Amino acid sequence: MKVLSFFSIKGGVGKSVSSMAFAQILHDDYGKRILLVDIDKQANTSKTFGCYTPDGFTSADLLTAKSLIADKAIRHSDYGIDVIPANFELIRANKEVLLDTLHPQQLRFKRQLAPLRDRYDYCIIDYPIDDNMAVINALVVTDEVLIPIKMDRYALDGMEYVIETIEGIKEFNPNIQLKGCFATMYVRSNLYKEGMSALETSLGLKFLKTPIRQTVKVGESTFEKPFIRYSPTSSAAEDYRKLVAEYLSLE
Ligand SMILES: Nc1ncnc2c1ncn2[C@@H]1O[C@H](COP(=O)(O)OP(=O)(O)OP(=O)(O)O)[C@@H](O)[C@H]1O
Ligand SMILES: [Mg+2]
Repeated sequence: MKVLSFFSIKGGVGKSVSSMAFAQILHDDYGKRILLVDIDKQANTSKTFGCYTPDGFTSADLLTAKSLIADKAIRHSDYGIDVIPANFELIRANKEVLLDTLHPQQLRFKRQLAPLRDRYDYCIIDYPIDDNMAVINALVVTDEVLIPIKMDRYALDGMEYVIETIEGIKEFNPNIQLKGCFATMYVRSNLYKEGMSALETSLGLKFLKTPIRQTVKVGESTFEKPFIRYSPTSSAAEDYRKLVAEYLSLE
């Protein structure tokens, strides 16, 4: 099982839409067995896949349970993808981990997900914008990171911290690899090229070639079903398929 993280500390940049699109495409087009882990208390991904639970086991329990409970937290969605959902319990769980200094605080997901390694080809993690114990635990178990970037005036803000965070995790997880970033909600403009080269030169970030175009279909899909199933022929769905192929060619 390879753990792929769509990580950024920036809000509304396409972390959730990209996590869900990669999960669906790797499953539908490549026959991969996918576990999608939601660690955002907003639970957009859990809800989109019909896996939200207000009181069942969730990613919060992966942080706090003393016994191995990941199995109990897995929900089988109608889209061929298994989901470990999130809910607001993550707020309590994050505090609880900080207070529990008797057990290692960064290795909780690693321990919980270990028994699932042969059952899935990919574990894809959708991140919140918070900097918390769930995020640290998720990065500790991550093999590869992709950073979605919404190319606008604010695209550079906070990017240093994103890179610093990944570097800092190497103390616990020396194998974590930043595969690169990619543009989301792309609209054709010269500013895009300028922004991209600013990020490449100032931070040494590698951009994947395929930008994800902006389309109203993504917003519409949130009322219906996961985007790739809702609008498989839309421009952004086409782009995500190209991006997945590009990502796989990097390996
Ligand atoms: N390619 C796209 N075209 C149009 N709208 C998009 C596209 N990608 C994402 N969006 C919209 O942009 C918003 C943010 O996307 P998304 O929820 O994936 O970002 P996020 O980084 O997960 O946000 P958060 O920080 O709140 O978790 C959503 O309303 C989503 O529907
Ligand atoms: Mg999100």
